[in-house]
Amino acid sequence: MSRVFTAEAHPNIAVVKYWGKRDRALNLPAVPSLSVTLERFRTRTTVTWGIDGPEDEVVLNGAALAGPSADRISAFLDLFGADRPRCRVYSDNNFPTAAGLASSSSAFAALALAADAAAGTGHDPAALSAIARQGSGSACRSLWGGWVEWPVGRAADGSDSHGRPLAPQGHWDVVIVVAMVSAGRKPVGSRAGMLRTEQTCPFFPAWVESAPADVAEARRAVLARDLERLGRVMEWSTLKMHSTMLSTEPAIRYWKPATLAAIQVVEELREQGVGAWYTMDAGPNVKVLCARADADRVSLALAGAVDRVEVLGVGADATVAPAVS
Ligand code: PMV
Repeated sequence: MSRVFTAEAHPNIAVVKYWGKRDRALNLPAVPSLSVTLERFRTRTTVTWGIDGPEDEVVLNGAALAGPSADRISAFLDLFGADRPRCRVYSDNNFPTAAGLASSSSAFAALALAADAAAGTGHDPAALSAIARQGSGSACRSLWGGWVEWPVGRAADGSDSHGRPLAPQGHWDVVIVVAMVSAGRKPVGSRAGMLRTEQTCPFFPAWVESAPADVAEARRAVLARDLERLGRVMEWSTLKMHSTMLSTEPAIRYWKPATLAAIQVVEELREQGVGAWYTMDAGPNVKVLCARADADRVSLALAGAVDRVEVLGVGADATVAPAVS
């Protein structure tokens, strides 16, 4: 009899960024990072362990996947058993996929959790996070809600490079205002973008060297609930990361005119005394960190610069349960 489990995971946004790898096969990062998990946005994934037929069946947002995207899911499932049966994976996101909104983080966290339960492998959270990392680096941080660190680790097999919860969802009631510049797919994926950065950006070594101090600073800021301190280091990490992207050959520019417009709105809000700080990932969308009390003011100001604005609080741990049919 097949076993069917459904998992839900929320995407996370790095406040100190991961960009660059120290090991490609194991997907180990060149830099440590620290993230906050988002509420409301989620991936829901159901895994059926054992179906008839010659191939895995993978359906994302209602459309069957084929080719390299489906192969990537099959290879990931192999991590739960080399001689596994064929499986069915149904997954959907309630937010845009692959547009710099961290959909791969929630996708591989939910898939890891559902596959582990359906396969009956029973990995502990740290081991499961290290497996999720191999699907997509940022996914190792989405098994937990709240604030999560991802250290580089020392072990050659990558077993100590996984998410580590720093503070739970209820620790600090801040919000991330997402300014959606574009819901389209990004021009260069993070894997290809990181490789190009490692290979051609002359500033990459300096980026790697500066990251541990940024994580230490952000950790102190989160634990002290010091928004200004966190916001400053988040912007610095963001701009350093995008500087490495812009200085690759050929250049990777994820920003659009509306990205800069949103940045300017945030800077003007700060001049008016509103505590708001921005971050961007491998895409044009801008995410703004602020106190919940300022969320309306910040989203109203951003609404003048971009098409759509969403206010998201800090999210909860990923969950898994037997599927209900
Ligand atoms: O692990 P990936 O492939 O989702 O790469 C994530 C890279 C950034 O979103 C740009 C930064 C981060 O730490 O999430």
